[in-house]
Amino acid sequence: MANFLSTPHPKERRIIFENISKPGYAPDISTYLTHGGYESLRKALAMKPSEIIDAVKAANLRGRGGAGFPCGTKWSFIKYDDGKPHYIVVNGDESEPGTFKDRYILHQDPHQLIEGLAISAFATNTHLAYIYIRCEFPHAARIVWNAIKEARAKGFLGKNILGSGFDLDIFVHQGAGAYICGEETSLLESLEGKRPYPRIKPPYFPAVLGLYMKPTIVNNVETLCHVKHIIRLGAAEYAKMGTPGDGGTRTMCVSGDVMRPGTYELPCGAVTLRELIFDVCGGLKPGRSLKAVIPGGSSAKVMRADETYKLKVKGPDGTMTEKEIPMLDVVMDASTLQSVGTMIGSAGVMVLDDTRDMLWALNNLNQFYAHESCGQCTPCREGSLWMSKMTTRMLSGDTLPADPGNLKNVADNIAGRTVCAFGEACSWPTQSFLDKFPEEFKRVDT
Ligand SMILES: Cc1cc2nc3c(=O)[nH]c(=O)nc-3n(C[C@H](O)[C@H](O)[C@H](O)COP(=O)(O)O)c2cc1C
Repeated sequence: MANFLSTPHPKERRIIFENISKPGYAPDISTYLTHGGYESLRKALAMKPSEIIDAVKAANLRGRGGAGFPCGTKWSFIKYDDGKPHYIVVNGDESEPGTFKDRYILHQDPHQLIEGLAISAFATNTHLAYIYIRCEFPHAARIVWNAIKEARAKGFLGKNILGSGFDLDIFVHQGAGAYICGEETSLLESLEGKRPYPRIKPPYFPAVLGLYMKPTIVNNVETLCHVKHIIRLGAAEYAKMGTPGDGGTRTMCVSGDVMRPGTYELPCGAVTLRELIFDVCGGLKPGRSLKAVIPGGSSAKVMRADETYKLKVKGPDGTMTEKEIPMLDVVMDASTLQSVGTMIGSAGVMVLDDTRDMLWALNNLNQFYAHESCGQCTPCREGSLWMSKMTTRMLSGDTLPADPGNLKNVADNIAGRTVCAFGEACSWPTQSFLDKFPEEFKRVDT
Protein backbone atom coordinates (compact mmCIF):
# COMPACT_ATOMS: atom_id res chain seq x y z
CA MET A 1 0.00 0.00 0.00
CA ALA A 2 2.77 2.46 0.82
CA ASN A 3 4.46 3.94 -2.17
CA PHE A 4 7.91 4.67 -0.75
CA LEU A 5 9.81 2.59 -3.27
CA SER A 6 8.07 4.05 -6.31
CA THR A 7 9.53 7.06 -8.11
CA PRO A 8 8.25 10.09 -6.22
CA HIS A 9 5.81 12.44 -7.91
CA PRO A 10 7.56 15.80 -8.61
CA LYS A 11 5.47 17.42 -5.86
CA GLU A 12 6.59 14.89 -3.24
CA ARG A 13 9.46 15.80 -0.93
CA ARG A 14 10.67 12.96 1.25
CA ILE A 15 12.49 13.78 4.44
CA ILE A 16 10.64 11.55 6.92
CA PHE A 17 10.49 8.80 4.31
CA GLU A 18 13.84 9.56 2.70
CA ASN A 19 15.60 6.54 4.17
CA ILE A 20 12.59 4.26 3.97
CA SER A 21 12.45 4.97 0.24
CA LYS A 22 15.92 3.56 -0.35
CA PRO A 23 15.96 -0.02 -1.60
CA GLY A 24 17.37 -2.36 1.05
CA TYR A 25 17.05 0.17 3.89
CA ALA A 26 16.82 -1.78 7.18
CA PRO A 27 15.72 -0.62 10.62
CA ASP A 28 19.02 -1.52 12.33
CA ILE A 29 21.48 0.98 13.76
CA SER A 30 24.37 0.26 11.41
CA THR A 31 22.17 1.07 8.40
CA TYR A 32 20.94 4.21 10.17
CA LEU A 33 24.49 5.33 10.93
CA THR A 34 25.57 4.92 7.33
CA HIS A 35 22.72 7.30 6.40
CA GLY A 36 23.83 10.12 8.71
CA GLY A 37 22.02 8.74 11.74
CA TYR A 38 22.45 10.48 15.12
CA GLU A 39 24.40 13.40 13.56
CA SER A 40 21.50 15.74 14.41
CA LEU A 41 21.58 14.55 18.02
CA ARG A 42 25.30 15.30 18.13
CA LYS A 43 24.59 18.78 16.72
CA ALA A 44 21.71 19.39 19.17
CA LEU A 45 23.79 18.39 22.20
CA ALA A 46 26.18 21.22 21.33
CA MET A 47 23.29 23.72 21.30
CA LYS A 48 21.55 25.37 24.24
CA PRO A 49 18.21 23.66 25.03
CA SER A 50 16.44 27.02 24.56
CA GLU A 51 17.99 27.32 21.08
CA ILE A 52 16.44 23.99 20.11
CA ILE A 53 13.01 25.13 21.30
CA ASP A 54 13.43 28.41 19.41
CA ALA A 55 14.36 26.46 16.26
CA VAL A 56 11.28 24.24 16.54
CA LYS A 57 9.14 27.37 16.96
CA ALA A 58 10.78 29.13 14.01
CA ALA A 59 10.30 26.00 11.89
CA ASN A 60 6.51 26.33 12.38
CA LEU A 61 6.21 22.65 13.21
CA ARG A 62 2.64 21.72 14.03
CA GLY A 63 1.75 18.43 15.72
CA ARG A 64 1.01 15.65 13.25
CA GLY A 65 -1.27 13.69 15.62
CA GLY A 66 -4.50 15.50 14.76
CA ALA A 67 -4.92 18.69 16.74
CA GLY A 68 -2.09 20.52 14.93
CA PHE A 69 -0.84 22.36 18.01
CA PRO A 70 2.46 24.27 17.45
CA CYS A 71 5.14 21.95 18.80
CA GLY A 72 7.66 24.53 20.08
CA THR A 73 4.91 26.40 21.94
CA LYS A 74 3.85 23.18 23.64
CA TRP A 75 7.41 22.50 24.74
CA SER A 76 7.81 25.99 26.17
CA PHE A 77 4.99 25.28 28.65
CA ILE A 78 7.53 23.09 30.48
CA LYS A 79 9.68 25.09 32.87
CA TYR A 80 13.21 23.85 32.25
CA ASP A 81 14.49 24.26 35.80
CA ASP A 82 11.42 23.67 37.95
CA GLY A 83 13.12 20.84 39.87
CA LYS A 84 10.39 18.36 38.89
CA PRO A 85 10.85 15.23 36.79
CA HIS A 86 9.63 15.79 33.23
CA TYR A 87 8.39 13.14 30.84
CA ILE A 88 7.95 12.87 27.10
CA VAL A 89 5.38 10.37 25.93
CA VAL A 90 5.34 9.45 22.26
CA ASN A 91 1.86 8.87 20.93
CA GLY A 92 2.17 5.78 18.74
CA ASP A 93 -1.45 4.74 19.16
CA GLU A 94 -2.26 5.59 15.52
CA SER A 95 -5.92 4.79 15.93
CA GLU A 96 -7.67 7.37 13.74
CA PRO A 97 -9.35 5.52 10.85
CA GLY A 98 -7.68 6.45 7.56
CA THR A 99 -4.28 7.06 9.18
CA PHE A 100 -1.37 4.69 8.52
CA LYS A 101 1.93 6.56 8.67
CA ASP A 102 3.38 6.13 12.15
CA ARG A 103 3.44 2.34 11.77
CA TYR A 104 5.75 2.64 8.76
CA ILE A 105 8.14 4.84 10.73
CA LEU A 106 8.11 2.47 13.71
CA HIS A 107 8.64 -0.59 11.52
CA GLN A 108 11.11 0.79 9.04
CA ASP A 109 13.01 3.70 10.60
CA PRO A 110 12.73 3.46 14.41
CA HIS A 111 16.05 5.23 14.99
CA GLN A 112 14.68 8.34 13.31
CA LEU A 113 12.08 8.51 16.09
CA ILE A 114 14.61 7.74 18.83
CA GLU A 115 16.91 10.51 17.55
CA GLY A 116 14.07 13.07 17.36
CA LEU A 117 12.91 12.02 20.81
CA ALA A 118 16.40 12.32 22.32
CA ILE A 119 16.76 15.86 20.90
CA SER A 120 13.33 16.80 22.27
CA ALA A 121 14.21 15.36 25.68
CA PHE A 122 17.45 17.33 25.79
CA ALA A 123 15.54 20.53 24.93
CA THR A 124 12.96 20.04 27.69
CA ASN A 125 15.23 18.66 30.45
CA THR A 126 13.59 15.24 30.30
CA HIS A 127 15.42 12.10 31.37
CA LEU A 128 12.70 9.50 31.00
CA ALA A 129 10.48 8.94 27.96
CA TYR A 130 7.89 6.39 26.95
CA ILE A 131 6.88 5.28 23.49
CA TYR A 132 3.23 4.20 23.67
CA ILE A 133 2.54 1.82 20.82
CA ARG A 134 -0.94 0.49 20.13
CA CYS A 135 -1.36 -3.14 21.12
CA GLU A 136 -2.30 -4.10 17.56
CA PHE A 137 1.31 -3.26 16.52
CA PRO A 138 3.26 -5.96 18.41
CA HIS A 139 5.85 -6.15 15.66
CA ALA A 140 6.47 -2.40 15.91
CA ALA A 141 6.97 -2.72 19.67
CA ARG A 142 9.61 -5.44 19.14
CA ILE A 143 11.43 -3.40 16.51
CA VAL A 144 11.46 -0.24 18.62
CA TRP A 145 12.65 -2.11 21.74
CA ASN A 146 15.47 -3.57 19.72
CA ALA A 147 16.37 -0.13 18.33
CA ILE A 148 16.45 1.30 21.87
CA LYS A 149 18.85 -1.48 22.91
CA GLU A 150 21.08 -0.74 19.91
CA ALA A 151 21.07 3.02 20.59
CA ARG A 152 21.96 2.44 24.23
CA ALA A 153 24.83 0.12 23.30
CA LYS A 154 26.28 2.83 21.04
CA GLY A 155 25.99 5.60 23.66
CA PHE A 156 23.05 7.47 22.06
CA LEU A 157 20.86 6.67 25.08
CA GLY A 158 21.56 5.97 28.75
CA LYS A 159 23.99 7.91 30.91
CA ASN A 160 26.18 10.78 29.66
CA ILE A 161 25.02 10.59 26.03
CA LEU A 162 27.97 11.23 23.67
CA GLY A 163 29.90 12.71 26.60
CA SER A 164 27.42 15.58 26.99
CA GLY A 165 26.44 14.86 30.59
CA PHE A 166 22.83 14.38 29.42
CA ASP A 167 21.02 11.16 30.50
CA LEU A 168 17.96 9.63 28.86
CA ASP A 169 16.14 6.33 29.17
CA ILE A 170 13.32 5.27 26.88
CA PHE A 171 10.77 2.53 27.48
CA VAL A 172 8.17 1.05 25.15
CA HIS A 173 4.66 0.62 26.51
CA GLN A 174 2.16 -1.47 24.56
CA GLY A 175 -1.29 0.09 24.41
CA ALA A 176 -4.63 -1.08 25.67
CA GLY A 177 -6.36 -1.69 22.35
CA ALA A 178 -8.80 1.22 22.21
CA TYR A 179 -9.15 4.28 19.98
CA ILE A 180 -9.57 6.46 23.05
CA CYS A 181 -6.02 5.58 24.17
CA GLY A 182 -4.83 7.90 21.38
CA GLU A 183 -6.35 10.88 23.21
CA GLU A 184 -3.39 12.20 25.14
CA THR A 185 -4.80 12.21 28.66
CA SER A 186 -6.40 8.78 28.40
CA LEU A 187 -3.09 7.58 26.99
CA LEU A 188 -1.45 8.82 30.20
CA GLU A 189 -4.08 7.07 32.34
CA SER A 190 -3.45 3.89 30.35
CA LEU A 191 0.31 4.28 30.81
CA GLU A 192 -0.26 4.61 34.56
CA GLY A 193 -2.06 1.26 34.44
CA LYS A 194 -5.58 2.66 34.83
CA ARG A 195 -8.77 2.53 32.81
CA PRO A 196 -8.21 5.03 29.95
CA TYR A 197 -10.79 7.67 30.83
CA PRO A 198 -9.70 11.07 29.48
CA ARG A 199 -8.81 13.66 32.10
CA ILE A 200 -10.65 16.94 32.35
CA LYS A 201 -8.76 20.01 31.04
CA PRO A 202 -8.28 22.26 32.92
CA PRO A 203 -6.65 21.36 35.23
CA TYR A 204 -5.00 18.27 33.70
CA PHE A 205 -3.09 19.77 30.78
CA PRO A 206 -0.24 17.29 30.33
CA ALA A 207 2.43 20.02 30.31
CA VAL A 208 1.34 20.94 33.85
CA LEU A 209 -0.17 17.78 35.36
CA GLY A 210 0.73 14.91 33.06
CA LEU A 211 2.18 11.48 33.66
CA TYR A 212 2.21 10.79 37.43
CA MET A 213 0.96 14.41 37.77
CA LYS A 214 4.32 15.73 36.51
CA PRO A 215 5.00 18.04 33.52
CA THR A 216 4.71 15.90 30.39
CA ILE A 217 4.97 16.45 26.67
CA VAL A 218 2.82 14.19 24.51
CA ASN A 219 3.81 14.23 20.86
CA ASN A 220 2.93 12.11 17.87
CA VAL A 221 5.56 9.76 16.35
CA GLU A 222 5.83 11.77 13.13
CA THR A 223 6.04 15.11 14.97
CA LEU A 224 9.14 14.00 16.85
CA CYS A 225 10.78 12.69 13.70
CA HIS A 226 10.46 16.17 12.17
CA VAL A 227 12.50 17.58 15.07
CA LYS A 228 15.54 15.67 13.83
CA HIS A 229 15.19 17.30 10.41
CA ILE A 230 14.71 20.79 11.85
CA ILE A 231 18.09 20.44 13.55
CA ARG A 232 19.66 18.84 10.46
CA LEU A 233 18.38 21.40 7.93
CA GLY A 234 18.11 24.46 10.17
CA ALA A 235 14.77 26.04 11.08
CA ALA A 236 14.64 28.47 8.13
CA GLU A 237 15.34 25.79 5.51
CA TYR A 238 12.77 23.46 7.10
CA ALA A 239 10.09 26.16 7.45
CA LYS A 240 10.56 27.22 3.83
CA MET A 241 9.24 23.89 2.59
CA GLY A 242 5.78 24.60 4.01
CA THR A 243 3.49 27.56 4.52
CA PRO A 244 4.01 30.41 7.03
CA GLY A 245 1.69 28.74 9.54
CA ASP A 246 2.54 25.11 8.79
CA GLY A 247 6.21 24.41 8.18
CA GLY A 248 8.00 21.46 6.62
CA THR A 249 6.49 18.39 5.06
CA ARG A 250 3.56 16.27 6.10
CA THR A 251 2.85 12.62 5.50
CA MET A 252 -0.56 12.05 3.94
CA CYS A 253 -2.35 8.72 3.93
CA VAL A 254 -4.70 8.44 0.99
CA SER A 255 -7.25 5.63 1.01
CA GLY A 256 -10.48 4.74 -0.72
CA ASP A 257 -11.37 5.09 -4.37
CA VAL A 258 -8.09 6.16 -5.96
CA MET A 259 -5.85 4.19 -8.28
CA ARG A 260 -2.79 4.42 -6.04
CA PRO A 261 -3.74 4.60 -2.38
CA GLY A 262 -0.78 4.94 -0.04
CA THR A 263 1.29 7.14 2.22
CA TYR A 264 2.84 10.18 0.55
CA GLU A 265 5.06 12.90 1.96
CA LEU A 266 4.46 16.38 0.59
CA PRO A 267 5.48 19.88 1.62
CA CYS A 268 2.69 21.47 3.68
CA GLY A 269 0.37 23.39 1.37
CA ALA A 270 2.08 22.14 -1.81
CA VAL A 271 -0.91 20.41 -3.37
CA THR A 272 -4.58 20.99 -3.92
CA LEU A 273 -7.00 18.10 -3.46
CA ARG A 274 -7.13 17.83 -7.26
CA GLU A 275 -3.35 17.39 -7.51
CA LEU A 276 -3.27 14.93 -4.62
CA ILE A 277 -6.06 12.73 -5.97
CA PHE A 278 -5.53 12.99 -9.72
CA ASP A 279 -1.75 13.48 -10.06
CA VAL A 280 -0.07 12.01 -7.00
CA CYS A 281 -2.53 9.15 -6.46
CA GLY A 282 -3.24 8.39 -10.12
CA GLY A 283 -6.87 9.52 -10.17
CA LEU A 284 -10.10 7.61 -9.76
CA LYS A 285 -10.98 4.17 -11.08
CA PRO A 286 -12.03 4.15 -14.77
CA GLY A 287 -15.50 5.53 -15.40
CA ARG A 288 -15.95 6.86 -11.88
CA SER A 289 -16.47 10.42 -10.71
CA LEU A 290 -15.59 11.99 -7.39
CA LYS A 291 -18.32 12.29 -4.79
CA ALA A 292 -16.68 13.27 -1.51
CA VAL A 293 -13.45 13.57 0.42
CA ILE A 294 -12.81 13.27 4.14
CA PRO A 295 -9.50 15.14 4.36
CA GLY A 296 -8.12 14.57 7.85
CA GLY A 297 -8.99 11.17 9.30
CA SER A 298 -12.49 9.88 10.00
CA SER A 299 -13.31 12.67 12.46
CA ALA A 300 -12.81 15.46 9.89
CA LYS A 301 -15.94 16.92 8.32
CA VAL A 302 -16.69 15.54 4.86
CA MET A 303 -16.30 17.75 1.75
CA ARG A 304 -18.65 17.42 -1.22
CA ALA A 305 -16.99 17.24 -4.63
CA ASP A 306 -19.41 19.58 -6.42
CA GLU A 307 -19.39 22.37 -3.85
CA THR A 308 -17.46 25.62 -3.89
CA TYR A 309 -16.04 27.73 -1.10
CA LYS A 310 -15.51 31.46 -0.79
CA LEU A 311 -11.87 31.94 0.12
CA LYS A 312 -9.59 34.94 0.49
CA VAL A 313 -6.82 34.59 -2.07
CA LYS A 314 -3.67 36.67 -2.50
CA GLY A 315 -3.48 38.35 -5.92
CA PRO A 316 -0.22 38.98 -7.86
CA ASP A 317 -0.04 42.50 -6.33
CA GLY A 318 -0.33 41.05 -2.81
CA THR A 319 -3.92 42.23 -2.18
CA MET A 320 -6.41 39.76 -0.75
CA THR A 321 -9.61 39.20 -2.69
CA GLU A 322 -12.48 36.80 -2.13
CA LYS A 323 -12.78 34.06 -4.74
CA GLU A 324 -15.14 31.18 -5.35
CA ILE A 325 -12.99 28.03 -5.24
CA PRO A 326 -14.17 24.58 -6.37
CA MET A 327 -13.70 21.93 -3.70
CA LEU A 328 -10.98 20.21 -5.72
CA ASP A 329 -8.89 23.39 -5.78
CA VAL A 330 -8.73 23.65 -2.01
CA VAL A 331 -5.12 23.49 -0.83
CA MET A 332 -4.18 20.71 1.58
CA ASP A 333 -2.91 22.78 4.48
CA ALA A 334 -4.10 23.32 8.02
CA SER A 335 -5.41 26.87 7.71
CA THR A 336 -7.12 26.47 4.31
CA LEU A 337 -8.97 23.34 5.37
CA GLN A 338 -9.99 25.08 8.59
CA SER A 339 -11.33 28.04 6.64
CA VAL A 340 -13.56 25.75 4.57
CA GLY A 341 -15.03 24.21 7.71
CA THR A 342 -13.07 21.00 8.03
CA MET A 343 -9.53 20.10 9.16
CA ILE A 344 -6.29 18.50 8.08
CA GLY A 345 -6.24 16.48 11.34
CA SER A 346 -3.98 13.47 10.86
CA ALA A 347 -4.01 14.00 7.06
CA GLY A 348 -5.77 10.68 6.54
CA VAL A 349 -7.50 11.49 3.23
CA MET A 350 -10.44 9.23 2.40
CA VAL A 351 -11.72 9.44 -1.16
CA LEU A 352 -15.27 8.37 -2.04
CA ASP A 353 -16.43 8.01 -5.64
CA ASP A 354 -19.94 8.06 -7.12
CA THR A 355 -20.53 4.38 -6.29
CA ARG A 356 -20.53 5.13 -2.56
CA ASP A 357 -23.75 5.34 -0.58
CA MET A 358 -23.22 8.11 1.97
CA LEU A 359 -25.64 6.55 4.45
CA TRP A 360 -23.60 3.36 4.28
CA ALA A 361 -20.36 5.33 4.76
CA LEU A 362 -21.73 7.28 7.72
CA ASN A 363 -23.11 4.12 9.31
CA ASN A 364 -19.68 2.54 9.02
CA LEU A 365 -18.16 5.50 10.92
CA ASN A 366 -20.99 5.60 13.46
CA GLN A 367 -20.48 1.93 14.28
CA PHE A 368 -16.80 2.60 14.89
CA TYR A 369 -17.47 5.52 17.24
CA ALA A 370 -20.23 3.71 19.14
CA HIS A 371 -17.85 0.79 19.68
CA GLU A 372 -14.96 3.03 20.76
CA SER A 373 -16.68 5.53 23.08
CA CYS A 374 -15.03 4.99 26.48
CA GLY A 375 -18.38 5.58 28.20
CA GLN A 376 -17.22 8.20 30.67
CA CYS A 377 -19.49 11.02 29.41
CA THR A 378 -23.20 10.35 29.00
CA PRO A 379 -23.74 12.41 25.79
CA CYS A 380 -21.00 10.50 23.99
CA ARG A 381 -21.70 7.06 25.48
CA GLU A 382 -25.44 7.20 24.72
CA GLY A 383 -25.36 9.52 21.71
CA SER A 384 -22.77 7.60 19.69
CA LEU A 385 -24.80 4.43 20.18
CA TRP A 386 -28.10 6.14 19.24
CA MET A 387 -26.55 7.54 16.08
CA SER A 388 -25.20 4.12 15.16
CA LYS A 389 -28.54 2.41 15.85
CA MET A 390 -30.40 4.99 13.77
CA THR A 391 -28.13 4.79 10.73
CA THR A 392 -28.12 0.98 10.93
CA ARG A 393 -31.93 0.98 10.90
CA MET A 394 -32.05 3.56 8.08
CA LEU A 395 -29.65 1.47 6.05
CA SER A 396 -31.97 -1.50 6.36
CA GLY A 397 -34.54 0.59 4.46
CA ASP A 398 -36.59 1.52 7.52
CA THR A 399 -36.21 5.33 7.42
CA LEU A 400 -38.67 7.61 9.20
CA PRO A 401 -39.27 11.20 8.03
CA ALA A 402 -37.98 12.49 11.38
CA ASP A 403 -34.71 10.53 11.22
CA PRO A 404 -32.39 13.16 9.68
CA GLY A 405 -33.60 15.79 12.17
CA ASN A 406 -33.28 13.40 15.11
CA LEU A 407 -29.83 12.31 14.01
CA LYS A 408 -28.70 15.92 13.80
CA ASN A 409 -30.22 16.68 17.17
CA VAL A 410 -28.30 13.85 18.81
CA ALA A 411 -25.01 14.88 17.16
CA ASP A 412 -25.55 18.55 18.11
CA ASN A 413 -26.00 17.50 21.73
CA ILE A 414 -22.74 15.56 21.96
CA ALA A 415 -20.21 18.04 20.52
CA GLY A 416 -18.96 20.44 23.18
CA ARG A 417 -20.49 18.46 26.05
CA THR A 418 -17.79 15.89 26.75
CA VAL A 419 -14.51 15.70 28.65
CA CYS A 420 -12.46 15.06 25.50
CA ALA A 421 -12.62 15.75 21.78
CA PHE A 422 -14.06 12.28 21.07
CA GLY A 423 -17.42 14.07 21.41
CA GLU A 424 -16.60 16.27 18.41
CA ALA A 425 -14.91 13.39 16.57
CA CYS A 426 -18.08 11.29 16.67
CA SER A 427 -20.55 14.11 15.94
CA TRP A 428 -18.77 15.84 13.07
CA PRO A 429 -19.27 12.97 10.59
CA THR A 430 -23.03 12.87 11.26
CA GLN A 431 -23.40 16.66 11.21
CA SER A 432 -21.40 17.09 8.01
CA PHE A 433 -22.82 14.11 6.10
CA LEU A 434 -26.36 15.36 6.82
CA ASP A 435 -25.41 18.90 5.91
CA LYS A 436 -23.60 18.05 2.64
CA PHE A 437 -25.68 15.10 1.40
CA PRO A 438 -29.23 15.72 2.71
CA GLU A 439 -30.75 13.93 -0.31
CA GLU A 440 -29.18 10.62 0.75
CA PHE A 441 -30.78 10.63 4.19
CA LYS A 442 -34.38 11.28 3.18
CA ARG A 443 -37.01 8.59 3.22
CA VAL A 444 -37.89 7.46 -0.27
CA ASP A 445 -41.53 6.36 -0.36
CA THR A 446 -42.17 3.93 -3.17
C1 LIG B 1 -10.30 10.46 20.33
C2 LIG B 1 -8.90 10.93 20.00
C3 LIG B 1 -7.99 10.03 19.45
C4 LIG B 1 -6.69 10.45 19.15
N1 LIG B 1 -5.83 9.55 18.60
C5 LIG B 1 -4.54 9.93 18.35
C6 LIG B 1 -3.61 8.99 17.82
O1 LIG B 1 -3.94 7.83 17.56
N2 LIG B 1 -2.33 9.41 17.61
C7 LIG B 1 -1.93 10.71 17.89
O2 LIG B 1 -0.77 11.04 17.71
N3 LIG B 1 -2.81 11.61 18.38
C8 LIG B 1 -4.08 11.25 18.63
N4 LIG B 1 -4.95 12.16 19.17
C9 LIG B 1 -4.45 13.52 19.48
C10 LIG B 1 -3.76 13.54 20.87
O3 LIG B 1 -4.73 13.76 21.88
C11 LIG B 1 -2.70 14.64 20.95
O4 LIG B 1 -3.26 15.84 20.51
C12 LIG B 1 -1.45 14.35 20.13
O5 LIG B 1 -0.89 13.10 20.47
C13 LIG B 1 -0.42 15.42 20.41
O6 LIG B 1 0.71 15.22 19.59
P1 LIG B 1 1.12 16.26 18.46
O7 LIG B 1 1.03 17.62 19.09
O8 LIG B 1 2.51 15.87 18.13
O9 LIG B 1 0.15 16.09 17.34
C14 LIG B 1 -6.27 11.78 19.44
C15 LIG B 1 -7.21 12.68 19.99
C16 LIG B 1 -8.50 12.26 20.24
C17 LIG B 1 -9.47 13.25 20.83
